[in-house]
Amino acid sequence: MINFTEPTITKTEKDYVSDALDNNLLSGDKKYTKLCNEWFHNYGYKNFLLTTSGSSALELAAILSKIKPGDEFIVPSFTFSSTANAFMLRGAKPIFVEINPDTMDMDVDKIEDKITENTKVIVPVDYAGISCDMDKINQIAKKYNLMVIEDAAQAVGSKYKGHPCGLESDIACFSFHETKNFTMGEGGAVYIKDDTLMDEAEIIREKGTNRKQFLHGMVDKYSWYKIGSSILPSDLLAAILYGQLERFDEILNRRLALWNKYYTFFANLEESGKLRRPHVPEYAAHNGHIFFILLNDEETRNNLMHFLKEHDIVATFHYLPLHAAPLGQEYGYKPGDLPVTEDAAARLLRLPLHHNMADEDVEKVCNLVKEFLEK
Ligand SMILES: Cc1ncc(COP(=O)(O)O)c(C=O)c1O
Repeated sequence: MINFTEPTITKTEKDYVSDALDNNLLSGDKKYTKLCNEWFHNYGYKNFLLTTSGSSALELAAILSKIKPGDEFIVPSFTFSSTANAFMLRGAKPIFVEINPDTMDMDVDKIEDKITENTKVIVPVDYAGISCDMDKINQIAKKYNLMVIEDAAQAVGSKYKGHPCGLESDIACFSFHETKNFTMGEGGAVYIKDDTLMDEAEIIREKGTNRKQFLHGMVDKYSWYKIGSSILPSDLLAAILYGQLERFDEILNRRLALWNKYYTFFANLEESGKLRRPHVPEYAAHNGHIFFILLNDEETRNNLMHFLKEHDIVATFHYLPLHAAPLGQEYGYKPGDLPVTEDAAARLLRLPLHHNMADEDVEKVCNLVKEFLEK
């Protein structure tokens, strides 16, 4: 059986978890949380906070954006529910924008048409760890005075014009879910560009209190200042993540090697018009998070998925566009509103890609895809 995804956990992660258990590092902001923060500072993220998930990172960002009922945010429909939920929990309305099927990222040429006097935030999503066209998005945001909150859940280890993904945005949100390249089981993080928002973010993350300042001896009692939530992860989970960060290059390079193997193999099938490979724009250096192909139609995609399953290979489709989902329809959208997104989502297939795969596993998947498409 070739699984679609598997985490890579070694002795390093296990040793750190044992250390955390032996030394009462159970709640948040202890040794391993600090080590993870330090690692990310050195990597380039000045203001970085671990969170309990990518979803809670987005919710923290939405609170910081001050978005409110009546406001709108622009978001691709081809994304995870959490990208939209975070802002909808603050009462805002999602305005869905088409994707560019080459990258499956937001189509930057379609953003401006969606802006109204109620727009507050643009929420680009770096699908498959391939960065969005951030300069163009930021130009639009600047022109209309909008915030950019980047959903970089899949983009840890990815770069935009040589910088870690997210640095171009006001806030960027990351995920360390079990399925991501670097994991802590359930977890995430925010990067916050504006130093002055950091104190507020720390209060929101600590249930709306200034407990952190109290623990650091900066105030003699702590109190309730803002609406907030419990967004600080256990140090036990940060211990897993720190083990993964120590193996950062090894994990990243292995994924990229497997991704490149798929990419190279499928060149001929792309040339003969059987499928499309992901397009990585010049400005992006991706992290090999997902390898996807676009088949010519939905039926071929579904039949290929079943064919691979018969050979014990798990390949999967991805997001069902949000605008056409039951909740999207409650917000006034309907199937047919975003034809490019609907068409690409119906043709997309993700192939197995994880650290434990051998080169031969990728070759097996490639050969079966070829056999099926050339039948
Ligand atoms: C684009 C995107 N945004 C947000 C999330 C949510 O992250 P988490 O599962 O850590 O809450 C995911 C997770 O799959 C995602 O892919």
